[in-house]
Amino acid sequence: MASKILLPLLLLATVSPAVLAAFDVTQMLSDRSQYSSFVKLLTQTKVAEDTNHLKSASLLVLPDKAMKPIESLPADKQRLALANHVLLKYVDPIQLGEMKDRTAMLPTLLSNSDKRLGVVNYTKADDGQMYFGALGASCVSKLVKVVAARPYAVSIMEVSEAILPPELGSTGGAAIGGRRPRGGRGKKKPQSADPGEYGAKPAAQAAAAPSTVRPEIKKPQYADPGESKVGATPPAQAAAAPTPAAKY
Ligand SMILES: *[C@@H]1O[C@H](CO)[C@@H](O)[C@H](O)[C@H]1NC(C)=O
Repeated sequence: MASKILLPLLLLATVSPAVLAAFDVTQMLSDRSQYSSFVKLLTQTKVAEDTNHLKSASLLVLPDKAMKPIESLPADKQRLALANHVLLKYVDPIQLGEMKDRTAMLPTLLSNSDKRLGVVNYTKADDGQMYFGALGASCVSKLVKVVAARPYAVSIMEVSEAILPPELGSTGGAAIGGRRPRGGRGKKKPQSADPGEYGAKPAAQAAAAPSTVRPEIKKPQYADPGESKVGATPPAQAAAAPTPAAKY
C-alpha cells in the first residue's frame, strides 16, 4: 500500500533536472512524421536543447516539403537558420490576433548571437491571415496551424516557408560566412564572442554589415543557386566593412 504512494515520489527524485524542464519540443513533435526533417536538424544543431531551456518559447515548424532552403545551407548556417524559427516567448494565434498592432517584430533565439538578424516580422493581412518574415525579407511565411501548445510555456506552430534573413540564404550567404576572398581587410576572425553561441564568428561580421535589404526581390529565393552571383554586391560591402559591432 505504502509502496504505491512512494514509488512515484522515488521516481521523481531520481530524474535529472533536464527531464524536469518545462517542455521538450522534440518530444512534443515525436509522433508528427511530417516534421521529421525539421526535428532531426533541430536536434543535430542543438537548437532543440537551447529551446527547451527557455522559460517560454514558440517554435515555428516547417513541414518536410518546405525544408529545402534550410537543408541546402552549410551546417553552420543551418543552426542560425533554425534558431530564427524559435521565438523567445509564448505566442499563439489568439494572442497574436488580439494584439493592438497588426504587425510586430518578435525576437528569436538567433538574437543571442545576432541582435540585428534575430527578429521576425509578424504581420496580420487584411484577410486575417497571419504571416512571418525575416528581417530584410518579405513577410510571406504563412501561419498554417497550431501543432501543439502548452499555454503559456510553449507553442508549436506550422508555417509555410522558411524564415531566413537574406544574409543566411544563398543570395547573401557570403556576408555571414565571412569567407569572401576579396574585399576583406583585417578582422577575419573576431575572437570575442563565445564559440558556443550560434556561430558567433559569422554573426559578428554580419552585424557589422550594412543593410542588405534589397526591396526589388519580391519573393525570397534562397535556394536558387543563380542568385548568388547577382547578390554579390551586399556581401562584398559587408566584407569591406570594419567589424567592431556585435557586442552584447
Ligand atoms: C513587416 O512586414 C510587412 C508586410 O510585408 C511590411 O509592410 C512591414 O514594413 C514590415 N515591417 C518591418 C519593420 O520590416
